Amino acid sequence: MKISTEIKEQWGGEELITIHDHETASWIIIAIHTLRNGRAAGGLRMKKYNTPDEAIIDALNLSEAMTYKFAMCNMQWGGAKAVICLTRALEKIERERLLLRFGDILKNLDGRYYVGPDVGTTSDDMDIVYTTGKPYVFSRTVGAGGAGSSAIPTALGVYAGIKTTCKFLFGTDQLAGRTVFIQGLGSVGLYLQKLLLQDNANILYTETNQELIDFISAQAQNTQFVPPDKVYETACDIFSPCAQGAVLNVHSIQQLKCKGVAGAANNQLNEAEDADRLKQRGILYAPDYVVNLGGAMGITSIEAEGLSEGESLKNVQSTIAETLEEIYITAKEADTNTVAAAMKIAKKRLGYAPVS
Ligand code: NAI
Ligand code: PHE
Repeated sequence: MKISTEIKEQWGGEELITIHDHETASWIIIAIHTLRNGRAAGGLRMKKYNTPDEAIIDALNLSEAMTYKFAMCNMQWGGAKAVICLTRALEKIERERLLLRFGDILKNLDGRYYVGPDVGTTSDDMDIVYTTGKPYVFSRTVGAGGAGSSAIPTALGVYAGIKTTCKFLFGTDQLAGRTVFIQGLGSVGLYLQKLLLQDNANILYTETNQELIDFISAQAQNTQFVPPDKVYETACDIFSPCAQGAVLNVHSIQQLKCKGVAGAANNQLNEAEDADRLKQRGILYAPDYVVNLGGAMGITSIEAEGLSEGESLKNVQSTIAETLEEIYITAKEADTNTVAAAMKIAKKRLGYAPVS
């Protein structure tokens, strides 16, 4: 691996663990960006990457985003992320063994890192990790004693973020007649679609999974498919990235025909300059680590702080609405982009200046 000391210093985090699992030829990567009260939390992403270095960079960036999520919801958790970088498809039994090994590693960290699900893992996987990694596991299935999937609180948070963004843009948070473009109707996107339809919004969406496209078409609700190559040029009020990171880049931003961006995907900007590019185009951007903090906040507050599901979901929505409003007002007053405004608030809440 060629990850340089410079990259690690630029990251500014606490601890990077890289372990090779010879049997599956995969890498287990754990990046602890910050510790608060001696502990950090963040999801486990499990997927193929082009190179292990790419997976490490992803873990570093995602762990940093977790630091800001917890700072933005005023929770005393540091930010971390784990990545299992696969090099081939695994049989069920191999995958299970790998997750159990991950649980062992987690256990040995002695509470410095608590895991939850992320892209490529589910609450069922958290049940497996718990076998060897207990108690440092969030979001197990309800049947196993956990709070279940984090997709519901995440979607509710994104919904609150879309309403706040509309309020700032149009003077009302009513969504009837507004057009929201959802990129990715997976766990979060599907739930978000339901919430928006209840408010009589028009939904445009794109997907790469044909089974999901067929499923949505069969429902024939107020939801229209747009092919992936037409996404950025399609007019809408709010564009909501709920699939992958780095979708907002020098090319896509030039094409966008929306008034605001608010979605669940982590690390939506390809590079820091994209925040200014969005501002120059007059597009209001809801910083990802604010609008998507609902999963981490919702599940952690139920499982670690004993809140009821109802209290937790209410807090998620009000926290995101209030924080985004503060960011939008700060950005407008200071004539900066919304990421710079969010960083200012994160810095105040963390008590130190983030490195990048
Ligand atoms: P998911 O994997 O269930 O859904 C993602 C969907 O996007 C899939 O249906 C996939 O087919 C689709 N997709 C992938 N690439 C695409 C592309 N280029 N164009 C169109 N569709 C594409 O993931 P989930 O849980 O819904 O999460 C969505 C995003 O939100 C991810 O980036 C995740 O990191 C982020 N996020 C999720 C949280 C959660 O609690 N699930 C919490 C915070 C962030
Ligand atoms: N996948 C979540 C996120 O990106 C991480 C998470 C889920 C953390 C559940 C804790 C509990 O925010």
